[in-house]
Amino acid sequence: MCGIVGYAGDKPAVPVLLRALKDLEYRGYDSAGIAVLDPGEAGALSVTKKQGKIANLEAAIAADASAATTGIGHTRWATHGKPSDQNAHPHLSCGGEVVVIHNGIVENYAELRSALVARGHQFRSETDTETIAHLMEERVKAGESLLDALRGSAGLLAGSQAIVAMSPDEAGVMVAARLGNAGGVVIGYGEGEMVLASDLAAVLPVTQRVAFLADGQFARIDKLGASFVNVAGEALQVPVKRIPIDPVSALKGDYQHFMLKEIMEQPEALSDTIWSLATLEPAELYLNDLGAAAERLAGVQRVVLIGMGTSLHAAMIGRHYFEQFAGVPAETDNGSEFRYRDPVLGPETLVVSVSQSGETVDVLEAMAIAGTKGALQVTICNTEGAQTARVAEGAVYTRAGLERGVASTKCFTAAVVALYALALKLGQAKGRLSADEVRRRLAELAKVPDAVARVLADAKRYQRLANDYATTQHLLFLGRALAYPAALEGALKMKEISYIHAEGYAAGEMKHGPIALIDPSFPTIAIATKHALRSKMISNVEQVQARGGKVLAIVTEGDDELARLADGVVTIPEVSELLEPIVASIPLQLLAYYVAVHRGCDVDQPRNLAKTVTVE
Ligand code: M6R
Repeated sequence: MCGIVGYAGDKPAVPVLLRALKDLEYRGYDSAGIAVLDPGEAGALSVTKKQGKIANLEAAIAADASAATTGIGHTRWATHGKPSDQNAHPHLSCGGEVVVIHNGIVENYAELRSALVARGHQFRSETDTETIAHLMEERVKAGESLLDALRGSAGLLAGSQAIVAMSPDEAGVMVAARLGNAGGVVIGYGEGEMVLASDLAAVLPVTQRVAFLADGQFARIDKLGASFVNVAGEALQVPVKRIPIDPVSALKGDYQHFMLKEIMEQPEALSDTIWSLATLEPAELYLNDLGAAAERLAGVQRVVLIGMGTSLHAAMIGRHYFEQFAGVPAETDNGSEFRYRDPVLGPETLVVSVSQSGETVDVLEAMAIAGTKGALQVTICNTEGAQTARVAEGAVYTRAGLERGVASTKCFTAAVVALYALALKLGQAKGRLSADEVRRRLAELAKVPDAVARVLADAKRYQRLANDYATTQHLLFLGRALAYPAALEGALKMKEISYIHAEGYAAGEMKHGPIALIDPSFPTIAIATKHALRSKMISNVEQVQARGGKVLAIVTEGDDELARLADGVVTIPEVSELLEPIVASIPLQLLAYYVAVHRGCDVDQPRNLAKTVTVE
């Protein structure tokens, strides 16, 4: 959830840390802070931290530019302790022996804190993180190295954590740990310099050579490299990989917001995803990252798809693909519910986790449960080498490029494409799909980027339409079948960035309660495209209108009947039934974006949210 960064090299650390923190600000923006260590002067540790966005930290540092060449930094999404200067990371031990940044939750912090206070420690913040600094302090004072102090303390912490620490006693050194699934630690190997961060976005501007810490791994890093141990202190070899992501795609360019840039990038993101997974002539699927999982597909009897938020909505669309192409029962679940059930799974179950970041803790915990039951696991992920990809037997990567807006757009539609390809592959493996059928389905998929581009060409229209919705208090999104998850996604986009109360509903459910809400001040957006059970949707539109509600309908080009019936329409090009939700989602993304801009909301960093959710 929070962003963590570190630098050890010969350059001044402060600018490197600030730039990296800006790359990670989407992870949390309640406060930010840095600690730098000057190797020239023993004990020269300085900490600056400020409530609010990184701009506040930058302003606080401006007058005090340090020449220190080692440092750590943090951008916080508050869990324990309100957003404040005091609760901002980094956190110091009593005498500044250790300084710590942290992502995750120390679940037993209250108990640890009482014991530490009883032993004479003085706390300066309300955070769970500070307990780690005090625990390490005791070990450092007893003569342990910083790495051993982190290992020893780690055994006392309940919950999942990513921790980075420094000490004035070990100038030029950072230590890091990953315990569980609270988020990644990516270690970047530069030329005579090393960086670390909670995700790739902040490492790539320095280097594309990276190592990922896995659960239970600890690292000691200085400017010359990194060494790794497990919790018992045994040396580990952690592979260094070259990541083929272009850091340029992380820049906002001429767009006012990352979200708009990412919406507009969808034709390319979809096209890149499709053609990284398939060819049309010959019509073939190349899901090369499935690895050994490919061999087990023929034996799959059931599919369970898990995800959170937008990724869960993608999974709900994907469910239809598995049922149609592979003829196996498919169901979806929210990772945070799944992980606390005792789900019935076995080796014949394919668990498909959908996560753009590959670091969402609820998804990772659900995967851990699926693993204990022997299920075959494949992840749909936009981040090469992410934790879901390391846990699953196989991966299907989306090629959407880095997504920086907290509201997911291009990764949503790209995930739907990846699910379509995986379902085709499963259908093939189970002998359900002929070569002609695969060719026909791929040819339909190939038309989608163009259809999306046509909707985007008319983006300005949504800017005007946003005027009609910017002052509404409530909004209802309706859809049926594949358009139902698209309606849920439309409502999620609207609420998360514009703060308008929005509900997504299966249109057939309306008359079982929600229709009571309808009045002239409660507008409805209905996905009533050609294949989305259009005639049933027409009845729903009429039912809403009969209660005084106004309806904006998303319809297929040429649908004059709905154009006459609804109070407003937007049209999308016709695509095949299964792929309609991708194209129908574009107007909903654009509308949410322009409504949020109209309302003056912080589109890329909406309040209370973070891009990657690595805490429960
Ligand atoms: O990285 P993930 O795809 O696992 O993230 C899951 C959700 O947190 C995410 O989709 C969230 O719902 C988005 N902010 C929605 O726009």
